[in-house]
Amino acid sequence: MRRFEDPAALQAWARDVRARGETIGFVPTMGYLHAGHLSLMRIARPRCDHLVVSIFVNPLQFAPTDDLGRYPRDEAGDAAKCTAEGVDVLFFPTPATMYPPGFQTHLTVGPLAAPLCGTSRAGHFEGVVTVVLKLFNLVQPTVAVFGEKDYQQLAVIRRMVRDFNLAVEVASGPTVREADGLAMSSRNAYLDPEQRTQALSLHRALDEAEQAVAAGTDPATLIARTRAILREQSPAEIDYVDLLDATELTPVTALDRPVVLAVAVHFGGTRLIDNRVLRP
Ligand code: PAJ
Repeated sequence: MRRFEDPAALQAWARDVRARGETIGFVPTMGYLHAGHLSLMRIARPRCDHLVVSIFVNPLQFAPTDDLGRYPRDEAGDAAKCTAEGVDVLFFPTPATMYPPGFQTHLTVGPLAAPLCGTSRAGHFEGVVTVVLKLFNLVQPTVAVFGEKDYQQLAVIRRMVRDFNLAVEVASGPTVREADGLAMSSRNAYLDPEQRTQALSLHRALDEAEQAVAAGTDPATLIARTRAILREQSPAEIDYVDLLDATELTPVTALDRPVVLAVAVHFGGTRLIDNRVLRP
């Protein structure tokens, strides 16, 4: 596995690869890799000649009050996992090389980025699409793989790729979960044992919602019931529970099409998200 820190060196490598007519698969991450990240590498691996993984905790997508400073890191462990997955190139840029002095150009996002995490994390998706565009320009992937765990992020990135005519195929992978249903997340590392148990309410609430939809519930009841299940975990502070059109991410008044139920909950200082696409 080759390792690049310098964006220009990585870009020169990618240019040579593409000039030879070979393909590049790409999995962008913020590191502290878990089975969810690895599943995306396994989706990308057979679809490309060269698999690139980036590890970059992107300051642009963190608000001042967010967890940038304490975001978990494990460079050596991440490199070992990438080697085991057959990754060809690990790209490890630094904030100083990605955002050198004078950096000032940012993408803006539209209505897809407005609800859910766009409301509770102002500027977050601008930071995400700006770094993903930069990474795409450096890595020059033919295919890039993102997780459905970050449902809105995936929608916003797909939109950006269409809006800017980027020659990248965006693929996605389903949410990988712990045996008890908790969606894998680098942030799960923050949870103490009690919070770890409480966090199971996310998955339980989504499971119950799926059953309620099968039984013919309505949106208001579904949201109220989901909030009630999450609130049973008394210290859990709900950020949002929302039911939106699965494609447009707009509010729905009836369960007459595929919808996404998305939840974000604080357990102590740790904010976790999860979602389920529900098809009436
Ligand atoms: P990060 O949170 O590290 O996630 C990297 C990729 O892994 C994302 O596409 C995310 O959706 C996916 N992922 C995370 N948990 C997953 C799980 N349990 N199952 C399946 N996929 C999962 O998302 C980011 O980093 C950043 O915003 C990034 C896109 C790298 C831009 O900075």
